[in-house]
Amino acid sequence: MLHGKLPHLTEGDLPKGEPSSVAALEELQQPWSSKFFVFTQKYPQYTPERAKAAAVPGVAIKLPWKLSSPGYKAGKEPTDIVVFSRICPHVGCIFNYVPNWREVTAGHGGYVPPEVRRHGLLACPCHLSIFDPADREVPGRVLSGPAPRPPRCFIYEVRDGVLVATGLEPGGIA
Ligand code: FES
Repeated sequence: MLHGKLPHLTEGDLPKGEPSSVAALEELQQPWSSKFFVFTQKYPQYTPERAKAAAVPGVAIKLPWKLSSPGYKAGKEPTDIVVFSRICPHVGCIFNYVPNWREVTAGHGGYVPPEVRRHGLLACPCHLSIFDPADREVPGRVLSGPAPRPPRCFIYEVRDGVLVATGLEPGGIA
């Protein structure tokens, strides 16, 4: 049982991990191309040992347009690469990136996206949540299904032409 005040969280308490190479930028040149990766996350504050590692699957996706609010990219400039955790914010299944939206319609309950969203989508096999990784206002916007919010974004930077994930947007599964 907790007594007294909760500790004040600082930037050092944010979920961090071993910086992980995600992809060379040249692997992400074609719009809707993607790269899957696994990130080892650490939660320094949540275990008796004060350190716990978790493997978080992720996906980087090249978009045909730049987003001005790309989630947690280090730096503020618009970017045409989005990097998401693949852990579904519903109850934690691992979802897929599906470059062809018709496959989402065929395999995920018949959902037909509106014309402006007929492109690569994120789709969860468990309860059929579908997300738009390229939404201009809310990257990862929920289009269909029970997920309560978009998947978490990775914090990333580019080092010598390589996209490197350095951390993960704070928060639990949902
Ligand atoms: S876990 Fe993904 S929709 Fe339920």
